[in-house]
Amino acid sequence: MEEAVARPAGPARGARGAAGGGAGQAVRPVALGDVRAEAVARLSTGIGELDRVLGGGVVPGSLVLIGGSPGIGKSTLTTMALAHLAASGRRTLYVSAEESAAQIKLRAERLSSAHALQIPTIAETDLATVLATLEREKPDVCVIDSVQTLHSTALSGAPGSVGQVREVAGEIMRVAKTHAIAVLLVGHVTKEGALAGPRVLEHLVDCVLQFEGERERTYRTLRALKNRFGSTSEAGVFEMRDDGLAEVLDASARFVGEATRAPGSVVLAAMEGSRPLLVEVQALVSQSDLEIPRRVVSGIDRNRLALVLAVLARHGGVGVGTSDVFVNVVGGVRVDEPGADLAVALAVASAARGVPLADAPDAPPLACFGELGLTGELRTVAHADRRVAEARKFGLREIVTPEVGTLRAALRPLRAEHARSSDSGRAVAIR
Ligand SMILES: Nc1ncnc2c1ncn2[C@@H]1O[C@H](COP(=O)(O)OP(=O)(O)OP(=O)(O)O)[C@@H](O)[C@H]1O
Ligand SMILES: [Mg+2]
Repeated sequence: MEEAVARPAGPARGARGAAGGGAGQAVRPVALGDVRAEAVARLSTGIGELDRVLGGGVVPGSLVLIGGSPGIGKSTLTTMALAHLAASGRRTLYVSAEESAAQIKLRAERLSSAHALQIPTIAETDLATVLATLEREKPDVCVIDSVQTLHSTALSGAPGSVGQVREVAGEIMRVAKTHAIAVLLVGHVTKEGALAGPRVLEHLVDCVLQFEGERERTYRTLRALKNRFGSTSEAGVFEMRDDGLAEVLDASARFVGEATRAPGSVVLAAMEGSRPLLVEVQALVSQSDLEIPRRVVSGIDRNRLALVLAVLARHGGVGVGTSDVFVNVVGGVRVDEPGADLAVALAVASAARGVPLADAPDAPPLACFGELGLTGELRTVAHADRRVAEARKFGLREIVTPEVGTLRAALRPLRAEHARSSDSGRAVAIR
């Protein structure tokens, strides 16, 4: 559908220069050095992990879209952020188009944050009412929960339809830019994990944050998919507790502490954005009674498992053709990086052979990282030094890195099991 009139929703307030100009009139370009831009202080949400993912806090007047699957904790996270902002003297507003005020109150009472009950709240689904409230209240920071459930009576579509979502986001952005209101827009995700609604939504906003993890698990990660004011490689780790979301600052220590060291377990030195993170990767290989054996993954890409299994069979001498294979990244963490290949390969090989990768039950677990090439070679991945340093920091002495060269060489400890007791027995690259 073509829109006849372009709304002045795009550029932020003050984006038009003073060089004059009107309909069809030429304007004089200004050198960027001469553009007046006041340095704006970012607003801290009081949640360190959230601030970091945002690039140092909320930028006043910006639009942030927070997507996540049902029950992941979007409302909890945004309520906690507003509570802190309210406590530090900011004007806040929580707009819920999903829950009644009483339900929101129940959540706020559960949170450890003492100021959660002070957040001015409206439970409203009508867009026009919300816009009018925003114009009157002019909060510094506002949460819209969610963009899919607000409804504009000017359009015929049902709430959540492409037209409605676009209209809701566009109108909220117009008002927000006019009054320099920072908006945290909560968004639903589809079954496949993509943000529901039109793609244009992602272009419209300044930041897109994805809150992911599995509802039944305690750990959740928050990462930036797009950020006009910061890096998109940052990620934050949270834990859902009965008094709200707690930042997990020592995630590596926890995951290493919980690592089983049993056959099929290995520690992956992963990168969560710019931060190294040690996670346990587990595999189970068992005889299948199905014609097409199961390949079940959690926390890694399924296609990546297929690739690793093929390389393992062809170049590693470990075939699992007729067995079911399950691979799980412990704690509900998702590792979407090629560096996870080697961990998956080692875990599966160890599970298939029934041989543990750790030296002894009381020895620290084996750590690894590296990408698998199709010819069985190990390929280097980014930040090798930081991964090794993180593993060392948590007492993991044996680290298989891409420096061992090939998958076959990386698998040697599983074959030379009898040589375990002698110090020279390990054929892994120990740095
Ligand atoms: N008493 C409790 N103790 C521990 N965890 C709880 C408790 N109550 C709720 N939770 C957790 O909080 C989650 C719900 O959080 P929240 O309502 O913020 O999620 P949401 O992403 O906004 O969900 P929705 O998509 O339904 O809006 C639940 O899935 C559950 O994990
Ligand atoms: Mg919610």
